[in-house]
Amino acid sequence: MFSSRVPGELLPNRIAAAREASPPRFDLTVSNPTGCGIAYPPDLLAPLADPEGLAYRPHPRGLRVARTAAAREYRRHGLEVDPERVLLTASTSEAYAFLFKLLAEPGEAVLVPTPSYPLFEHLANVEGIAAVPYRLDTEAGWRLDLPALAHAPENARALVVVHPNNPTGSFVHPDDAAAVAALAAERGWALIADEVFLDYPLSGGPGASMSFAARDEVLIFTLGGLSKSVGLPQLKLAWIVTGGPQPAVTTALDRLEFIADTFLSVATPVQLALPDLLHMGSAVREAILERCRRNLVALRHVASRVPAVALLEPGGGWSAVLRFPAVLAEEELVLELLREDGVAVHPGYFFDFPMEGVLVVSLLPESAVFAEGVERLLARIGMHLSR
Ligand SMILES: Cc1ncc(COP(=O)(O)O)c(C=O)c1O
Repeated sequence: MFSSRVPGELLPNRIAAAREASPPRFDLTVSNPTGCGIAYPPDLLAPLADPEGLAYRPHPRGLRVARTAAAREYRRHGLEVDPERVLLTASTSEAYAFLFKLLAEPGEAVLVPTPSYPLFEHLANVEGIAAVPYRLDTEAGWRLDLPALAHAPENARALVVVHPNNPTGSFVHPDDAAAVAALAAERGWALIADEVFLDYPLSGGPGASMSFAARDEVLIFTLGGLSKSVGLPQLKLAWIVTGGPQPAVTTALDRLEFIADTFLSVATPVQLALPDLLHMGSAVREAILERCRRNLVALRHVASRVPAVALLEPGGGWSAVLRFPAVLAEEELVLELLREDGVAVHPGYFFDFPMEGVLVVSLLPESAVFAEGVERLLARIGMHLSR
C-alpha cells in the first residue's frame, strides 16, 4: 500500500532506545541552538508583528524585501548578489527537495559527500531519486576525491558540496571548488553548495572566506538560511541563490518558481521581518560562534591529555570529530557512555565515516555541560586504553 520512498522499518535504533530509557545529563549531540543557553535578544521576534503581515500577497520566489535582505548577507563575504537570483524556501531541506525535483527524474542520482550530513539519503529518497556518495579523503584533510568523481554514474544530475562540511568542519579547498565546477560543466551536472555553516569559522583554512555564490562557470545553487545563520530554525526561512551561465540561470529560476508556486510555503510575517531578523540576529550568531570556539578550546585541552585520541581540527561549523583507537566498537562505546556516564555523543558511522573509531561531538552545549561531558568521554576512552 505504501511507497518505498519511506523506509519500511521505522523503529528507534539501539542508541535512540538507550537515550529514551535514560536521558543523558551531558548531551553532546545537540544541534538545536535554541536549547543550549545561548542569549537571544528578548525582542528579536518583535518584527514578526508587523501589521503588513495581516495581508496575504504571496510571491512564489519570496517577497522582494526578503530576497533583498538575503542577497545582502553575501556582502559579508564580499559579494553583491542580485535579489532576482534569490528564491526563498521554508528550510534548506525544502530547498534540497525543490532542487532535486528541478534537476533529476525519478530514479536518477545526485552526488553527495561522505562523511557528511545524514539527511541527504532521506531527502533524495523521498523525492524518488538516489543519493550516491562521493568520498572526502580522510588522510588529505577531507579534500574531494576528484579522480573517483570521474567514475560517477551516468545518471547523476547534480553534485552537492557542503562548505564547511558537517560534521568534519572542512571547507572545500579553492582548488577543489574550481576542479569540481569544471567537472560539473563537462558532465552536465548542476552544483548545489550548502553553506549553512559558512558564518562559523573555527580554525579556518583554505576556502574559509570563499562563497560558492561567487561562481558562474556552471549552474550552481548556493543555500543558506536562518536556522544556522542566526540560530532560528523554528522560523522556517532559507534561501537559494542561483548562479551560472545564461540562459540556464533564467530557465532554472523560472522552473524553481513554478515548483515554489505549488507550495507557497514561506510564511508572510517571517519574510517581512527578515531584514530586521538578519540585522538583530547577528548578536546570536556571534554568541553561537563564541560558544563553539570556547568549547573547541576546552576540547583541545582535554583531548591533549589522552595522546591516543586525535581531535580532527574543524575548520568551521558546530561540531568536532575525535578519533580513538579501536579498543571497542563505536556503538558499544556510545552505549556505554550513555549508560555509565550520562554522556551522549554520535558514533562516526552515523555520518558514514569510512573507518571505525570515530565520535562526533557538538560544540553547542553550555560550556559547563560540554567540559564535564568531554572529561567523562576522555576518561572512559582512557579507561579502555589502560586495560
Ligand atoms: C549541512 C546541513 N545542511 C542543512 C541543514 C538543515 O538546515 P535547515 O534547518 O535549514 O533545513 C543542516 C542541519 O543540521 C545541515 O547540517
